[in-house]
Amino acid sequence: MTTTHEYDVVIVGAGGAGMRAALESSQRARTAVLTKLYPTRSHTGAAQGGMAAALSNVEDDNAEWHMFDTIKGGDYLVDQDAAEILCNEAVDAVLDLEKMGLPFNRTEDGHIDQRRFGGHTRNHGEAPVRRACYAADRTGHMILQTLYQQCVKQEVEFYNEYYVLDLLLTEDPQAAAAGGEVAVAGVVAYELATGEIHTFRAKSVIFATGGAGKIFKTTSNAHTLTGDGMGIALRAGLPLEDMEFFQFHPTGLAGLGILLSEAARGEGAILRNSTGERFMERYAPTIKDLAPRDMVSRAMWTEVREGRGCGPHKDYVLLDLTHLEPAHIDAKLPDITEFARTYLGIEPYTDPIPVFPTAHYAMGGIPTNVTGQVLRNNTDTINGLYAAGECACVSVHGANRLGTNSLLDINVFGRRAGIAAAEYALATEAAPELPADAAAAVAGLVETLRKTTSVTGAESVAVLRRELQETMDRNVQVFRTAETLAEATAVIASVKERYASIAIHDRGQKYNTDLLEAIELGFLIDLAQLVVAGALAREESRGGHYREDFPTRDDAGFMKHTMAYATADGVRLDYKPVVVTRYPPMERKY
Ligand code: FUM
Repeated sequence: MTTTHEYDVVIVGAGGAGMRAALESSQRARTAVLTKLYPTRSHTGAAQGGMAAALSNVEDDNAEWHMFDTIKGGDYLVDQDAAEILCNEAVDAVLDLEKMGLPFNRTEDGHIDQRRFGGHTRNHGEAPVRRACYAADRTGHMILQTLYQQCVKQEVEFYNEYYVLDLLLTEDPQAAAAGGEVAVAGVVAYELATGEIHTFRAKSVIFATGGAGKIFKTTSNAHTLTGDGMGIALRAGLPLEDMEFFQFHPTGLAGLGILLSEAARGEGAILRNSTGERFMERYAPTIKDLAPRDMVSRAMWTEVREGRGCGPHKDYVLLDLTHLEPAHIDAKLPDITEFARTYLGIEPYTDPIPVFPTAHYAMGGIPTNVTGQVLRNNTDTINGLYAAGECACVSVHGANRLGTNSLLDINVFGRRAGIAAAEYALATEAAPELPADAAAAVAGLVETLRKTTSVTGAESVAVLRRELQETMDRNVQVFRTAETLAEATAVIASVKERYASIAIHDRGQKYNTDLLEAIELGFLIDLAQLVVAGALAREESRGGHYREDFPTRDDAGFMKHTMAYATADGVRLDYKPVVVTRYPPMERKY
C-alpha cells in the first residue's frame, strides 16, 4: 500500500543542515522533515570541537582572514564567492544559535569563548588565531539539540524513521535538451516501522542527508552515513562534484577511528613520534600541530612509513596532553578524554593517546549554487531542488575542509536553502503532478530484495561491505597511486557485480534493518566508484587528494572541479571551472 502526502517543502535529513533549513522553511511554507533516524541521533551530534566565526571576542580577527584561510586550506579548489558568503555570514550564524539558547563556553567577562583550530590564522597565516566558538567538545551535540528544540517549539512536522529512496523529477536531467527545464516533483520513502511506502509530492525538496564515511572501514562516521542522498541524486541522473576529495582527520583513536577532536591540539596538545619528537615542527614550522588536516595526516603517515611510529607494530603516533592541567582537560575536553579511557584504557592526564588518521568528511557532493539550488550540469539548475550540508558541494571546502567550517556550513547554507526552497514554493502554484507509478521503482527494489531470502548460496551484504571498505582503506588513502587506485577499481567492480546476487535474511515488514543495510550498501558501492574514478583521473596532488605518482599541484591542468555522472557505460567525468574572486592560487606553506 502507498500513502501520498503533499507539502510545499520536503526536507530529507534532520541533522544540523536539515533542521536549520526547516526552521526557515516552516516559518514561510508547509514543511515536512523526513529522516531515516530520530533527529537527535543525526551525525551532527558527533561533531566536537567548534564552529568557526571571526567574532574577535578573544583575539583580533575578521571575516577576510577567515575567507583567506578557507581558500588556502582548501588548496585553491574553493569557490571563492561561496567562501566569502560563508565567512561573512558566520558571525550571525553563531549569534542566531546563541539566541536560540545554545550553551557556548564563555570568557570570564561573559562573551562566547573561542579556541584555536587547524588552518585558522591571524593576518593571512602569521600565527594561529582563536576563531572556533565551542561548547566543550560537544559543539555538534549542542547544535543538534538546540535546533531540535526550536523545531519542536515551531511545530515542524517530522517523519522519523522514513528512509527516502527515490527523488522524483519531471524529466531525466541527462536527457533534457540543453536549457530545457527540469523540476522536482517529490520523493518516495520507505517507513521503517511498517514497511509501508509513502510518496511525498512537493514544490521544493531539500537534501540534507549527510556524508558517506562508511565507504571506508576506519572512519569517524556513524553506521548510518552511507551517502544515501548523494546516491539517490546520482541515480536520478545528477552529477556529483569533487568526490575524490575525502578528508582524513588526523586524530582518530588508533585502530578504531573514533574521533578525538582537533580541539585537543587547539588547547595545546602535541603530536609526537616514537622518539618523542614534536614532528609537526618539521612539516609546518609556523603553525605546527595546527596545520590543516590533509598536511597533518600526511605527516603522520610519513612518520609511520619512515619507522618512527609507536606501539608494538609502529603503526600510530601519540597525542600528548600530559602537560595540560587536569582541570583544564576536564573543562574543555571531557568527552574525548573519556573515549581514550573507555576504548583504549589510556589515562590522558598521564599518558599520551595513540592516534592515526581516520576517514572523516566528504568535501564533494551534490553540486549547488550559493542559494543551495542543485545543479544538473555545469550551469543549469533544477527548479525546486536544493541541497545543504555534507551531502552538498557548494563548494566552500574545496580540496580540504578546515575544522569547524562544517558546523558553520550547515548553519549558513542550511538557512539559505530553507529560505530559498520556501520562497520558490510560495512562488509556484502547484507541484508537478506525480506519475501514477511514482512509487514503482522503490516498491520494485524492496520486493526484489525481500524475494532474495529464499536464495541459497547468494552473496552476503556484510561480506561485500567489508571487501569494499577494506579496499578503500588500503588503496584510496591519504596517499594514492595509479596502481592502488586501479586495484580499488577492480575490487569495487567485482563487489558491484556480486551485489546483484545478494540475499537478505529477513522477510519481515517491521524494522527490517537487513533490507536497509542491503540498500545502503548499493549507495556505498556507487559512491566508492565515483571517488576512485575521480582520483584516478586527477593526476596531481591537491588538498586531501595526494597522488604519489603526481606529487605536485597542477593548476594549469587541474584547478577545476570534477563533475562525475553515473551512466550505463560506467562513470563519466566532466570538469567545471573554480570561481576565483580575490585570491589567485599561491604556494601553500604553513
Ligand atoms: O576535530 C573536530 O572537532 C572536528 C571538527 C570538524 O570536523 O569540523
